[in-house]
Amino acid sequence: MTPGFYARRLARPGAVLAPMAGYSDAPMRRLSAEQGALWTVSEMISARGLVLGNEGPDLTIGRPYPGEQDRVVQLYGAEPDILAEGARRAVSWFGASAVDLNMGCPVPKIKGKGGACLLLTPEVAYALVSAMRAAVPVDVSAKIRLGYDRVRAVEIAQGLAAAGASLITVHGRTSAQRYTGTADWDAVAQVAAAVPVPVVGSGDVTDLATLRLRQRSGVAAVMVGRGAVGNPWLFAQANGTLDREPGDADRARAALRHTVLNAAWYGERRGLLQMRKVLPRYFAHRPEWREALVGCSTVQDAREALTRLTGTPLAEDAGAGPAGELAGAPFMPSTSGYDESRP
Ligand SMILES: Cc1cc2nc3c(=O)[nH]c(=O)nc-3n(C[C@H](O)[C@H](O)[C@H](O)COP(=O)(O)O)c2cc1C
Repeated sequence: MTPGFYARRLARPGAVLAPMAGYSDAPMRRLSAEQGALWTVSEMISARGLVLGNEGPDLTIGRPYPGEQDRVVQLYGAEPDILAEGARRAVSWFGASAVDLNMGCPVPKIKGKGGACLLLTPEVAYALVSAMRAAVPVDVSAKIRLGYDRVRAVEIAQGLAAAGASLITVHGRTSAQRYTGTADWDAVAQVAAAVPVPVVGSGDVTDLATLRLRQRSGVAAVMVGRGAVGNPWLFAQANGTLDREPGDADRARAALRHTVLNAAWYGERRGLLQMRKVLPRYFAHRPEWREALVGCSTVQDAREALTRLTGTPLAEDAGAGPAGELAGAPFMPSTSGYDESRP
């Protein structure tokens, strides 16, 4: 692995899958990559947990699926030595193509331990980035918000670039805003115009029209988070390989495939529990189907419900696809501090 990952991927058109604790796991990353995401970012991983905990290369939120490529591992933390060693492990254990520093998590639980608090003490973040940069032979990046409670993203992004960040992602809200209001893409564009490294913009991109609009804002690429849950086709639309909206039959097949991948990755019981928040997102336009979809506790339940609701025949092996390659792994609890019920 060599530096230059971001520059290589940015040579193509498309969108990026956002890091989302509780969502951007191996199954979702795989579906997004298959639809042409430029790269995907893992759920955030505690650098302390990685370095000082009992975790090893099998950690479920870090481990790549077999054959996974173009995957960035995101770390959070606040200590340079720990972040440097965490970055080394992200590369050697998990095969990270690049390592990203979380500077956006607004959850108070990790206050003082990294996340958006670093926006209050950006000089700490600069030290973290340069320590990570010195530790690994791959690109290091950072994902920020516009500021903690006031906008100061230009100054912070300039400092991060000077410290060695090869790319900066900006979520167009302050930490104090959490997820309220709308993302300020003018402020994101100002950052893009002011720093010497590529800037990726994030916030409220849920459909192709919005994506195209944001692609014209001066950013190097657009990142999609919530809008990609139950809608991996957005990546194929973003890179121009799909020019129609998926129908219910496409949705049924993809939803079943996601279910099969989840069952293989987490085990059926846990995997299906996780799917309760995801399956209805494939059919956001059919709120009346929600109850039937959240009631599925086995792959067979999901197959039957999807067949009945959409009228799409889904054979016994439908959805299996290459999923079998996702060998089952013991479930390990997420170390993230995000409140997964929030969005
Ligand atoms: C459930 C959830 C989990 C998230 N987890 C992370 C995370 O682990 N790291 C991070 O940098 N951002 C995280 N974010 C922020 C997203 O990456 C993204 O910047 C934000 O949701 C705005 O983009 P969107 O409107 O496309 O979702 C999370 C957001 C949500 C909704």
